[in-house]
Amino acid sequence: MTNFTFPKGFLWGGAIAANQAEGGYLEGGKGLTTVDLMPTGKKRWAIATGSLESFSPLEGEFYPSHEAIDFYHRYKEDIALFAEMGFKALRLSISWARIFPKGDEEQPNEAGLQFYDDVFDECLKYGIQPVVTLVHFDVPVHLVETYGSWRNRKLVSFFENYATTIFKRYKDKVKYWMTFNEINMLLHLPFIGAGLVFKEGENRLQIQYQAAHHQLLASALAVKACHEIIPDAKIGCMLAGGATYPYTCHPDDIFKAMEKDRESFFFIDVQSRGEYPGYAKRFFKDNHLNIEMEAGDEELLKTGTVDYIGFSYYGSRATSDDPEILKQISSGNVFASVENPYLEKSEWGWPIDAKGFRITCNQLYDRYQKPLFVVENGLGAVDEVTPEGEIHDDYRIAYLRKHVAAMGEAIQDGVEILGYTSWGPIDIVSASTGEMKKRYGYIYVDKDNDGRGKMERSRKKSFYWYKEVIASNGEKL
Ligand code: BG6
Repeated sequence: MTNFTFPKGFLWGGAIAANQAEGGYLEGGKGLTTVDLMPTGKKRWAIATGSLESFSPLEGEFYPSHEAIDFYHRYKEDIALFAEMGFKALRLSISWARIFPKGDEEQPNEAGLQFYDDVFDECLKYGIQPVVTLVHFDVPVHLVETYGSWRNRKLVSFFENYATTIFKRYKDKVKYWMTFNEINMLLHLPFIGAGLVFKEGENRLQIQYQAAHHQLLASALAVKACHEIIPDAKIGCMLAGGATYPYTCHPDDIFKAMEKDRESFFFIDVQSRGEYPGYAKRFFKDNHLNIEMEAGDEELLKTGTVDYIGFSYYGSRATSDDPEILKQISSGNVFASVENPYLEKSEWGWPIDAKGFRITCNQLYDRYQKPLFVVENGLGAVDEVTPEGEIHDDYRIAYLRKHVAAMGEAIQDGVEILGYTSWGPIDIVSASTGEMKKRYGYIYVDKDNDGRGKMERSRKKSFYWYKEVIASNGEKL
């Protein structure tokens, strides 16, 4: 038992993304998206970072998003299991290419719209609030091939058309929204984050920050449209969060860590405060970047600020100003980090740091003074099925227990948190590696890295644990 309770109406639940769960990648009129071009194996990283161009699936490669866990056909069964755990919220994303298969059409695809109507109805049937991300790592491929994706300002109006179509259609069903998933991912995995592919010799940084400007404008337009169309809705941004620690107390390390955090905060500073921060202007100047802006852009950013700060937290990061220390950068994580000797790591090398979660919550709330929404957190781990068909995932329970407790402490510190949707409540495809083996779920899906398995769903030990957490509103951890 804990010595505190979570706020009444706290939104406990889980989070998935269209491209990692749905499958049905060309069904119901859906167009091809960037993630549909990301195979498992060696080529994945080069494609994800925008270094290797690939505009159609290649012979002999395995593409995990094409079938994923077949949520497209099995959503009823899956949502029933979420309801059994007592979910109050389900975070999911809409695939842009289900609604606008090419991305630049004027009229939407009715079959795609109907699919999400059915999914939301199924959630609402159980009293589960859908929490919807407009774009979670999937840009229609036609927009990449024809316009160069988010490097082109035209994407802003295509996105605006998509967003307003969605708000009008689901205004009575969805009250929690987010614009771009982990918007700062654009700097780390530019193809995943923004559909960017680079040519030899191009100035990547220039293209990335220009694309960022376009996404920030698109986000502001979506916020404004959402407020107009659904006045009682809340719409947030979404940051790949995690505080950066200085490796030592040397002032150079402290400054370096601050700069590293600002690299990510830049996006949220604009989305939440409505203007480019001074440090960004200096960064652009120092790096000879020239961000093209049009009259009215600043005004738009000012008026399209978010209602809450959505973020993911998997672990903290560390950095140093000392080139020798920087050699100890750990592999495995998208966010390069110096190894922190005080922390354990997951099987994929991601640092485990529950205290860092409390720190991150406090840091974000101090900075923005807006409610937070923890929309991703969890442990990617290998699960073994016993001969009796059971999965004893005590390691996952241990990770989550400590993190939920840290979040409870943050709430007692005065941080306002709307809810907690842990990542991958049902096993889904890993975004970074494309593996099925990297599992986050309370629900096991019988499918392996090569696509073999019956895809049957079964409850892990953590399923029963989380059910109790929700039923006791966080008192029984
Ligand atoms: C976040 C993404 O980066 O982390 C998710 O928003 C992703 O899409 C999650 O799945 C966990 O990362 P991974 O690589 O373990 O799936």
